[in-house]
Amino acid sequence: MASPATCGRYGPAVADERTVQQLRDDVAAVGAWRHRIDLGRGVVTPGNEDTEAEWRRLQLPARFDGERVLDIGCSDGFYTFTAERLGAAGLLAIDDESSFMAETNGFRLAAEVLGSRADYQARMLESLDPATDGTFDVVLFINVLYHLRNPVEALERIAAVTSPGGLLVLKTYYRTDVRLWVRGRCLGFDLDRRPKWWYFPGSELGGDPTNWWAPNAAGVDALLRSTGWTGVRRIGTWRDRIYFHARRA
Ligand SMILES: C[S@@+](CC[C@H](N)C(=O)[O-])C[C@H]1O[C@@H](n2cnc3c(N)ncnc32)[C@H](O)[C@@H]1O
Repeated sequence: MASPATCGRYGPAVADERTVQQLRDDVAAVGAWRHRIDLGRGVVTPGNEDTEAEWRRLQLPARFDGERVLDIGCSDGFYTFTAERLGAAGLLAIDDESSFMAETNGFRLAAEVLGSRADYQARMLESLDPATDGTFDVVLFINVLYHLRNPVEALERIAAVTSPGGLLVLKTYYRTDVRLWVRGRCLGFDLDRRPKWWYFPGSELGGDPTNWWAPNAAGVDALLRSTGWTGVRRIGTWRDRIYFHARRA
């Protein structure tokens, strides 16, 4: 599947009538931004995530023409808005707003400024239901897996709302048995290749009580294969993150 070299730029925001200074003030009022989103007129949200680099690492499709896209744990919505600009026909963006950064405030502002027609719903992915939500051609499941109490049930539920042959794009925190940090790069080695999941009942992982699980690479692979996915493909790693593509069986 072809991937764009970059996710490109937004044009000027036509739907929004506030002045550039008002826009800057509204962006500042959100407080914590996770995503860098180009809102046009020289205003880019000050997210800590290099979203353009992430777009490339995720190897997302060059176009989403006519496709229904589901963005799970959408946060500020960079991936939703970019898929929309690249032709997605219907977008559902959900986030249970459990993040301790209260990141999702940014979604509403960015959607307004960009004139997005994406449907944002504050809800848990565990409530997804094909009878009411329908099915999706592309599901973005980025940095959410390790926040879930029950990853097996969650992946089965996501499979239930994915069209047959539909694409799952997954990125997650992961671990290896041995980790060496060399100049900001994490070099990991597995002592054996069996699937493993480490469990963090408190705030042991990154001081965040919403981080429950850390799989190794084989753990993610095994989870996907046993919950209704095929063509499971590890597409890369970056620091302590791992990236997979899979298709709904
Ligand atoms: C680490 S952030 C990732 C945000 C975005 N996908 C990204 O990668 O930049 C995880 C997001 O998932 C949301 N989240 C966590 N558990 C969830 C659940 N069960 N259902 C829906 N959203 C959830 C959090 O509120 C948070 O915004």
